[in-house]
Amino acid sequence: MDDDLDILFDTHAIQDRIRELGAQISRDYAGKELIAVCVLKGAAIFASDLVRSITRPVAMDFVHAASYGDARTSSGMVTLKQDLSSDIRGKHVLIVDGIADSGRTLAFLLERFWKREPASIRTAVLLDKAVRRAVPVHIDYRGFDVPDRFVVGYGMDTGEHYRNLPYVAAVKDAAAT
Ligand code: IMP
Ligand code: MG
Repeated sequence: MDDDLDILFDTHAIQDRIRELGAQISRDYAGKELIAVCVLKGAAIFASDLVRSITRPVAMDFVHAASYGDARTSSGMVTLKQDLSSDIRGKHVLIVDGIADSGRTLAFLLERFWKREPASIRTAVLLDKAVRRAVPVHIDYRGFDVPDRFVVGYGMDTGEHYRNLPYVAAVKDAAAT
């Protein structure tokens, strides 16, 4: 394993937790269909695991939101590089993101999506860096709380590196935290 990384959550811990979230979501959406909106790119890995642990009918759609570029501190501005391909009016929407940091990405998507009159919107994140929250945002399903460190793996990147790590790790170098 990479000497520059501290493993925070290994593959088994992540898989177990995603199974729990899937079971909870399946119970909460009993009798309903949902549309899981995967927030690219960071949520790609988490969302693909999560939907497979949900036993309700799940449609999938994707948005590409960007706020960071390659930098490790938020630019504070969210841009939508790719919007949904489907109409969410009257649908039960579950926004799935890899990590909530400042909360700006989720707040941006929530505001935008509510205007389209869905039946409901909930949020799911694998990682919650709540200590960094700048904008209040409600997280309905969270995998793990993470400390105020820069994390990579399981979809999370630094300059497009490490997304494919099958675990979540914190970057050791001080400049990253
Ligand atoms: P927010 O809009 O500040 O909540 O940040 C959301 C986005 O910032 C995430 O979807 C990630 O792309 C990125 N991000 C925030 N913290 C980290 C981190 O520790 N590692 C990798 N990406 C992060
Ligand atoms: Mg990134």
